[in-house]
Formats: sequence, structure tokens, C-alpha cells
Amino acid sequence: MTHSATASQWSSRIGFILASAGSAIGLGAIWKFPYWAGANGGAAFILPYVLFTFTVGVALVMAETAIGRLGRGCAAVSMGRAGGPVFALTGAAAVFTAFLILSYYAVVGGWCVSYLLDAIAGQAVSADAVTLRERFGDLVETGGRSVVWLFVFLLMTCGTVIFGVERGIERLSRILMPALFVLMLCLTVRSLTLPGAAAGVEYLLHFSPEDLTPEAILNAMGYTFFSLSLGAGILVTYGAYLPRETRIPGASMWVAALSVQASLLAGLTIMPAVFAFGLAPDAGPGLVFVTIPLVFSQLPLGGLLAALFYVCLVVVALTSSVSLLEVVVAHMTGRWHLSRRRAVVAAFAALFAAGCVPALSFGPWSDWRIFGRTAFDFLDFVCSNLLMPAGGLAVALLAGRSAWPAVAAELSSPACRPGTIAVVRVLLRRLAPVLVAVACLQSLLG
Ligand code: PHE
Repeated sequence: MTHSATASQWSSRIGFILASAGSAIGLGAIWKFPYWAGANGGAAFILPYVLFTFTVGVALVMAETAIGRLGRGCAAVSMGRAGGPVFALTGAAAVFTAFLILSYYAVVGGWCVSYLLDAIAGQAVSADAVTLRERFGDLVETGGRSVVWLFVFLLMTCGTVIFGVERGIERLSRILMPALFVLMLCLTVRSLTLPGAAAGVEYLLHFSPEDLTPEAILNAMGYTFFSLSLGAGILVTYGAYLPRETRIPGASMWVAALSVQASLLAGLTIMPAVFAFGLAPDAGPGLVFVTIPLVFSQLPLGGLLAALFYVCLVVVALTSSVSLLEVVVAHMTGRWHLSRRRAVVAAFAALFAAGCVPALSFGPWSDWRIFGRTAFDFLDFVCSNLLMPAGGLAVALLAGRSAWPAVAAELSSPACRPGTIAVVRVLLRRLAPVLVAVACLQSLLG
């Protein structure tokens, strides 16, 4: 029943690492991390984030991957095989989460494509903040343009996934992820060598113990989850394509390290540039679409740098969106027995229809509020603060408790010290459930 999932495989360990890092490194790293870290006390946010990533985060990456490789199916099948019908249901819920995330993630992905084309045409940068704000407003508020770009971005995502795991997702990640790294490094060096860049570094990395508030720590926890793509069935699905001989703990460490490195590089690119030109660091969503073009307008070769920057944004958005779509498509092929082609076409139609709601929620439908939030904000809130942590909780309970012996066997290898496995167990069994439950409660009450 899950043959279409099991038939596919990553061609190598590096293929899996790059695809998983591609999922992890997304708009979260480039768009959210820089201003989120700054707003939450700099190092007081970054330190717990790094700590969470290399403890609970990496343990959950290992757990999801191991469950996937054990079950060799889509998220619902693999979780069901490891833990029975209740966990099959949580797996199916994770598929639904991935669908919901993609419906609004693709809206922002579409804006990135639109800005990239503007940048290539030499029109993205301007020294006039009002013009830039108007341009961003035009794009997101008229609705129609947002919907067109959503369509284009979903086409790009579906066009990759239709080729399958190895020829589609892996090939895309193998080309784009190293290119992304080189591009980001160039941009970081350029940004750090601007006069006045030090203030941005200071904003990002300053540490005062009083900033280490429960709120900053919980926000760091939430960001860890989002940035590692946990709780949405991604790594369970990707794990199902992992060759037997690949050692999961080492590969998971790589994914976590690449993800942290990308967030830090993004922060060290954006903040120094923003400060060097005396702009507001807390511009939120507008940061990469309004503030950054302003920065580029003041640099030599600014048009070219802007185009490179938007290439990076499109790359990170696309390698994350293909992972979300793969979760949905694997479910449709594995559970509903659709061919990959049909599944992708059906998912495209459903995602486009669903995505129109958040896309229009910045303009024509902005008055329509759900619990006081626009459709876009509501979806983001429900997915990031509730569904993903709940999915992570299910994985922690499954891997750390009922399925532990099988998971432990999957993680063990002659090269792996027994101590490592014992630590992973404590993290999954004790720490992860408590932390995730507290984070969930806090976001519900707070
Ligand atoms: N990790 C991605 C980012 O940082 C977002 C994402 C979340 C992707 C969940 C897939 C699943 O942008």
C-alpha cells in the first residue's frame, strides 16, 4: 500500500542532508530570524535557540527521521506502523498541517518571485522609502497580483515535486543549496564591511542577562521548531526515502548545524546593512521587501546585489515548499493510491484554492477576521504555535516511549556511542514533551 513512497530513495546521505537542510532553511531564517532575534534581546534569544536546536531540536529531527525509515511510508502510515491507529491519526494531522503551512507560505514565496523579477529588470531598488512601501502595498493589497504570484510559485513547487524525490527534490537541493551558501557568504561579507556595520552586529549579538526573560526563551523555542521544520511530517516523510546504511544521528547534526549557520549568516547580513544606513531594524514583514531594497539602492552594484538577495529568498522558499508538498503528495500516493502526477495536480488545485484566502487577506478580504486576526496571520498562528508543536509532541511521545526500542535500534550503529542514544532518550522522553507543552500553553494563553 505504500509502494510509491518506498520505491523512492535519496541517492546518498548528502542528498538527504541537503534536502532536509533545504526544508529547514527557509523564509524563517532570512526573513524572521534577523528581526526576531533583535527584538527578543539579541544573544538572549540566540543562545537558547542554539541550545534548543542542538538538544531537543536535533533529538526530534532524529526521531522523525527514524520513524520515517522504520515505517517506509507517508507520515500517517509510518507513524501508524510505529505506534498504532492513534499515532496514524497524528500523522494524518501532520499532513494537514503541511498543507495549511504551504497555503500561506506559498503566498510569501510568490512575493519573492515577483521581487526577483523586478530586481532582474533593475526595478527592485529605490532610494525612496515611500515608493518602496507603495510598491509592496500594491503587490500585497490589490490581491490580484498576489494571487497570480501565488499561482506561479505553486507551479514552480509542483514542477519540482512531480519529478519525484531523487530527480526532483534532491536535484534541486543539490544545485541550489551550495549556490545559496556562496551567495549568502558574499552578501554577508559585503554587509559586514560597510561603514557603521558594527552597530548591527551589536544589535544582533549583544547580551544582557536581564533580557533572558521567559518570553525570549519561549520565542526561541518556537523559532527552533519552525526553523527545523518539525511537527509537520517533513522528516518522517524524508526519512522514508533514506537508505538503510545512512547513520541518522550524524546526518541530523548536519541538518541542525546548517540550519543554525544559515540563520546566523542571514542575521549578520541584514542587520549590519540596516544599521549602516540608519534604518529601522524592527520593520517586521516589510524588512526584506521595503528596507532591504533601500539598503541596496545605496550600494555600488546595488541592483546586482539585490537580484542575488532575491535569488536567495526564492531558493530558500522553494526548497522549503517542496518539502511541504512532498508530505501531502506522499500521503495521496501512499494512502489514496493516486499516481504521483495526479496527486501533484490535485494538490496544486487544492493549494491554489486554499492559498487565495491568505493571499487576499492583505487587501480585499482584510476585514474578515478570525479571532481578531487576518486569515494569513490566523493560519500562521495556528500552524506555528499550535499544530507544529502538537505534531512535535506526538513524535516525542511516540519515539521516546512506545516505539523507543525500535527507534533506538534505528539510531544505533557501531560508530555511535551508547551514551548518545541514552541522552536522546532523555531528551525525547522528558525534556521535549514538557518544553513543547509549555510553549503550546503559553501561545494559547499569551
Ligand atoms: N523551516 C522553514 C523555514 O524556516 C519553514 C517550514 C516549516 C518548512 C515547517 C516546512 C515545514 O522557513
